[in-house]
Amino acid sequence: MRILVVGANGTIGSAVVNEMKGDTEIIKASRSNSEIKVDITSTDSIMRMFEEVGEIDALVSTTGSAHFGPIEGLTPELNRIAVNSKLLGQINLVLLGLPYIRDKGSITLTTGILMDDPVVGGASSAMANGGIRAFVKSAAIELPRGIRINSVSPNMLEESKEKYGSFFVGFEPVPAKRVALAYRKSILGSQTGQSYTIY
Ligand SMILES: NC(=O)c1ccc[n+]([C@@H]2O[C@H](COP(=O)([O-])OP(=O)(O)OC[C@H]3O[C@@H](n4cnc5c(N)ncnc54)[C@H](OP(=O)(O)O)[C@@H]3O)[C@@H](O)[C@H]2O)c1
Repeated sequence: MRILVVGANGTIGSAVVNEMKGDTEIIKASRSNSEIKVDITSTDSIMRMFEEVGEIDALVSTTGSAHFGPIEGLTPELNRIAVNSKLLGQINLVLLGLPYIRDKGSITLTTGILMDDPVVGGASSAMANGGIRAFVKSAAIELPRGIRINSVSPNMLEESKEKYGSFFVGFEPVPAKRVALAYRKSILGSQTGQSYTIY
């Protein structure tokens, strides 16, 4: 089984790589620190990545940026970061990657808990997360060749507490290992159109 992980060297991505390593071939991609370079905000870059990688059984995205900050300071330009990266970047991976995914393959995208449990400063990210979840639910009913699609909505990770702890006041962080299991379920299971919330 060939698995392409976009965002492979990040906190969630490296946990997914660790969870799936073994009998699978994992191809690691990210903006600058992986063997395969890709910028998900550029359709040209995404197309080049798939041409380089070739056929895969599973596409996993553990990336996507968004501006964090108060809604009053959220300009249309700042909001566009989430639109171009977390929302359209991940969706373009699906649209451009579909021909490269083998029959009965899978796609797994990443959202986040703040779309259901809001935090101050998280509106732009929540917008992108909700868009991804809706896209996944809808795309699942018409993806061809038995290809499945799911998304994972993690709570703040224990490993990210220092970085995001001040935003997620009162949240109980989850270990990356537990989050990675949801990706395993999406890649190796049978469900489609699901949003796995990891609380
Ligand atoms: N960590 C958490 O607690 C948490 C909780 C819920 C949801 N999430 C969501 O999960 C996703 C990943 O979070 P994380 O904490 O694992 O992030 P992270 O540790 O900062 O890693 C981000 C990864 O994405 C890559 N990347 C960044 N911009 C890219 C681009 N334009 N094109 C291609 N790759 C790009 C990075 O590559 P390089 O290093 O090579 O630049 C890196 O591999 C984010 O969407 C985040 O909102 C995270």
